[in-house]
Amino acid sequence: MSDEIYAQSLFTIKGQTAVITGGSGGLGRAMAQGLAQAGVKVAIISQHEEKARRVADEIIARGGEALGIGCDVVEQDALLTAYEHITAALGPVDILVNGAGGNQAGATTSPDLSFFDLDNAAIDRVFALNFSGTLKCSQVFGRVMAERKQGCIVNIASMNSLRPLTRIPAYSAAKAAVTNFTQWLAVHMAQEYSPQIRVNAIAPGFFLTDQNRFLLTDAQSGGYTARGETILAHTPMQRLGEAEDLVGTLLWLVSPAARFVTGIVVPVDGGFSAFSGV
Ligand SMILES: NC(=O)c1ccc[n+]([C@@H]2O[C@H](COP(=O)([O-])OP(=O)(O)OC[C@H]3O[C@@H](n4cnc5c(N)ncnc54)[C@H](O)[C@@H]3O)[C@@H](O)[C@H]2O)c1
Repeated sequence: MSDEIYAQSLFTIKGQTAVITGGSGGLGRAMAQGLAQAGVKVAIISQHEEKARRVADEIIARGGEALGIGCDVVEQDALLTAYEHITAALGPVDILVNGAGGNQAGATTSPDLSFFDLDNAAIDRVFALNFSGTLKCSQVFGRVMAERKQGCIVNIASMNSLRPLTRIPAYSAAKAAVTNFTQWLAVHMAQEYSPQIRVNAIAPGFFLTDQNRFLLTDAQSGGYTARGETILAHTPMQRLGEAEDLVGTLLWLVSPAARFVTGIVVPVDGGFSAFSGV
């Protein structure tokens, strides 16, 4: 094997099957397309079936293999049905990306909504979506990995996983729980099932998508809010992320190049988490 072919083989994942939850969202769509461009068959899960199908159709139009599924990641029965459907269409799942997540206005403090008056239903929903959704999908799609003694799970964490951001206590705690669970599951899978099952997380910095637009930009002026300006001032690379910025890290984590890497959280944040502010 030539050096060049060896180097390429480290990143070869062609022919594998991936499931990406939240694959119709701002970040998930780019990750789904990145996996498809690497030759992976991709099942996109979203709670909005038509949005999942739209991303799948985009991939198919470019010559890839994909399937769009409508399913709520906190509903175990719906996940089991999705699992059957995906496996029948695309074969056994090799890769799971737990991307479904987000925050809600009712779980966010503001001048009009104090911590003491946060909406309990919104708090529960944010925690369930970000943490329980990740855990439940790992149960449903990780079982076949345990049986086949191989596979990769990549959870989508957040800067909140490392240190909490102001105003969003449920989302912060849920994303911290996601990194804790990433480490737990990495150890569990390696010890109980196979060292060839790896579990890692990506902690994106700040990317403008539907879930945070109301926090980072002013709906009327279109400019940044004070919070958006503070984020930029604390990002050494001086810009918000673009969804495609996540693709290289994802492809590395699920490829043989990362075969001895498990239980880590990789910040993709333009330096935000490294900067003390001074
Ligand atoms: N945008 C950012 O700056 C940022 C930063 C750090 C982490 N994240 C995380 O990245 C992931 C993607 O976020 P995004 O910015 O693309 O958000 P987004 O709102 O654009 O996309 C969220 C996706 O999750 C799906 N989803 C939501 N609830 C669901 C449910 N109950 N069941 C199934 N699917 C559901 C939506 O359909 C959508 O596909 C989330 O986990 C988010 O917390 C985002």
